[in-house]
Amino acid sequence: MASSSLLLACVVVAAMVSVVSCHPPKVPPGPNITASYGEKWLEARGTWYGKATGAGPDDNGGACGYKDVDKAPFLGMNSCGNDPIFKDGKGCGSCFEVKCSKPEACSDKPVIVHITDMNTEPIAAYHFDLSGHAFGAMAKEGKEEELRKAGIIDMQFRRVRCKYPDDTKITFHIEKGSNPNYFALLVKYVGGDGDIFGVDLKEKGSEEWKPLKESWGAIWRMDTPKPLKGPFSIRLITEGDEKLVADDVIPNDWKPDALYKSQLQVD
Ligand SMILES: *[C@@H]1O[C@H](CO)[C@@H](O)[C@H](O)[C@H]1NC(C)=O
Repeated sequence: MASSSLLLACVVVAAMVSVVSCHPPKVPPGPNITASYGEKWLEARGTWYGKATGAGPDDNGGACGYKDVDKAPFLGMNSCGNDPIFKDGKGCGSCFEVKCSKPEACSDKPVIVHITDMNTEPIAAYHFDLSGHAFGAMAKEGKEEELRKAGIIDMQFRRVRCKYPDDTKITFHIEKGSNPNYFALLVKYVGGDGDIFGVDLKEKGSEEWKPLKESWGAIWRMDTPKPLKGPFSIRLITEGDEKLVADDVIPNDWKPDALYKSQLQVD
């Protein structure tokens, strides 16, 4: 999760001088960002977290439940979003072009980041707490470190469709602790809208799509007294109401804490 160092510093200073006069300006969140793809750039505040050239948190994970965000396909080009971007986890996997023009180290050229984590400091209507690597990627060549020294900047962003390399297919991770009565599924690398608004499961031989519930981040779950029997087909519904079906993607002998790659991707 994103550090709350800004607020923390404030609280610490307030405690040291034992006054309560420390009020970082609280800005209410903006309207939710949805799957509409205009040309319009919106204003945000940008900060960064984790190692200077890293992918964010020390464990390269985050509040979406993804792991290894330092590796392909994210390659550290990832960010936390505040409420209207993270949307309680529904924003996980969505993609944004981000850029900055001030300070001088900014290149003003857009780069694409993936939402993998959340931040909660109320410093702007829209706030991206980027990985150190992604923050630096908004800089002119050779000025990455100089830009990171600015710490907090004004930046611009817009939602874009996610595009993954040809060999990156929609991938499912069955979470630890899953069993035939409790099934928890992490969904990742979804092209297009990138985010998931519904997940349904169908057992082999059945006609019935059963809905999973949102658990947290990009993880969806089902509790069922009747043991589930594979293979399973999985249907995803994106924010823009695209329906994506991966037939029999989870085999009968599925294991918890295992990865299942589909043949499915959105262009
Ligand atoms: C914004 O998204 C969150 C998470 O999906 C939702 O709970 C909230 O109602 C949305 N707000 C608006 C104004 O649509």
